[in-house]
Amino acid sequence: MSLPAARPKALRCDATVAWTALQGHYQAHGRALDLREAFARDPQRFDAFALEAPEVFADLSKNRWDLATRRLLIELARECGLETRRDAMLAGAPINSTEGRAVLHTALRAPRGQGLFSDEVHEVLDRMLAFAEQVRDTAASGITDVVNIGIGGSDLGPQMVVPALEAFAHPAIRCHFVSNVDGHDIAPVLQRLDARHTLFIVASKTFTTQETMANAAVARQWFLDAGRAPADIARHFVGATTNQKAAAEFGIETTFGFWDWVGGRYSLWSAIGLPIAIAIGADNFRALLAGAHAMDRHFAEAPLESNLPVLLGLLDVWYRNFHGFTSRSVAPYHQGLKRLPAYLQQLEMESNGKCVDADGQPLPFGTSPVVWGEPGTNGQHAYFQMLHQGTDVIPVEFIAVKHPTHDHADLHTKALANCLAQAQALMQGKTSDAALGEKAPTASATLDPLTLARHRSFPGNRPSTMLLLDRLTPRALGALIALYEHRVFTSGAVWGINSFDQWGVELGKALCNQLLPRLADGPAKGDVAGLDASTAGLLRRLLA
Ligand code: F6P
Repeated sequence: MSLPAARPKALRCDATVAWTALQGHYQAHGRALDLREAFARDPQRFDAFALEAPEVFADLSKNRWDLATRRLLIELARECGLETRRDAMLAGAPINSTEGRAVLHTALRAPRGQGLFSDEVHEVLDRMLAFAEQVRDTAASGITDVVNIGIGGSDLGPQMVVPALEAFAHPAIRCHFVSNVDGHDIAPVLQRLDARHTLFIVASKTFTTQETMANAAVARQWFLDAGRAPADIARHFVGATTNQKAAAEFGIETTFGFWDWVGGRYSLWSAIGLPIAIAIGADNFRALLAGAHAMDRHFAEAPLESNLPVLLGLLDVWYRNFHGFTSRSVAPYHQGLKRLPAYLQQLEMESNGKCVDADGQPLPFGTSPVVWGEPGTNGQHAYFQMLHQGTDVIPVEFIAVKHPTHDHADLHTKALANCLAQAQALMQGKTSDAALGEKAPTASATLDPLTLARHRSFPGNRPSTMLLLDRLTPRALGALIALYEHRVFTSGAVWGINSFDQWGVELGKALCNQLLPRLADGPAKGDVAGLDASTAGLLRRLLA
């Protein structure tokens, strides 16, 4: 179908012509699309839905869409002004409207002289990387352990990247991540450390976050209790923050700053990346940035038809709003990416978990899916049962890496075979007839064969995406993360929401502050006045 020539710049998706066309297309062709038939009909299907982006090859052919769906989704993106919105973000417009901020994490990975705020960005980057190299000179620095104290965006990025790039990491420096205000997080970490050889990074954009401030205070006290002088705090505690004043008040002298236009969940490229830089060194950190920058260029320049983050974001919209799928499972077949699902949960669900549009109008359609997962093959022995035979259809995103960084080729071959097999099994399924013809040695011998065959059949036609990296290098990982960032931008832009604020975290924080004095020692301890009966009952029980 063709759209009017003069399209309004930024319609919300449900006001577009393409949205209505997609609804019709879903009823006529989308709902009943069978992947097995689609592959049988079109021997070129793999090629038609294969895509090459910087460092990432994507096979989108096992998704429940066809060429017409893709074309309509691209029309949808155009009608929603995706390109205009993207260009506005890249140009530094204050697209985070509720906070009046620009959204410029892309500037953090632009080569020197090429991005906005280049001088400021590269001044901090140079200083941070020089500091990281000093720490990495362990003979001179004496540092063997680095503890990052931060939460959310000040934790999840480094906590995901450091193990992912283990093969590139300094062999004599251990990185620890403390985020939870529950003392069971920091206590065992401190137990294993020697204060003389430990560097603490207090990572907090605001330097006010309850969890981080509480853990930093515990770490400082532990450091002093270990016999270190207060004057040593300056050498063993550094800050990564936009609030340098608060860091100084804490006693921190070395601070690496960043800016309000870096969202927390988009901040691993900034000073928040310091633990990464210490782990992998300056050159590798620059390679991480370069990979992300390559993906930024792809997002900015590739036609929508071959723009990987755009197509992934549009597929998300197709699944969420037309098929009605409510979650997506991420299965990285690389143990190094074990924290990727947690990282993506914040990136995607904090960005797009919104129920009003950018103008504050209630949304009549679903937004962020639940994002969840575990590395393969572990997930196979846990919840893949549900993916294969459960009542819900859950699109799965596989991430495979062609070349390992270890020498156990046979293990790697097995991991890859499992990854491909799972995607295949989800799609192919198995009929009862096929199951009937098979032997099932572990099945009950007394069970009627037809009943057993029903238990052992698989519906199939379950969609999946395969993202394939050549190697998990810093550059490839940078590109992969930026791919996810831009994909989230795409679906958020189509839904017309502000993907860059997070007001939904405020209420719980405020209520916690009100409850604290009722739980802690002091005059208000045990006071349940004004509380709902459940909270009051629980509080009484906790204090009994
Ligand atoms: O949970 C809300 C949040 O503001 C996240 O967006 C952010 O990444 C996290 O808290 C940590 O904030 P800060 O870096 O300011 O400590």
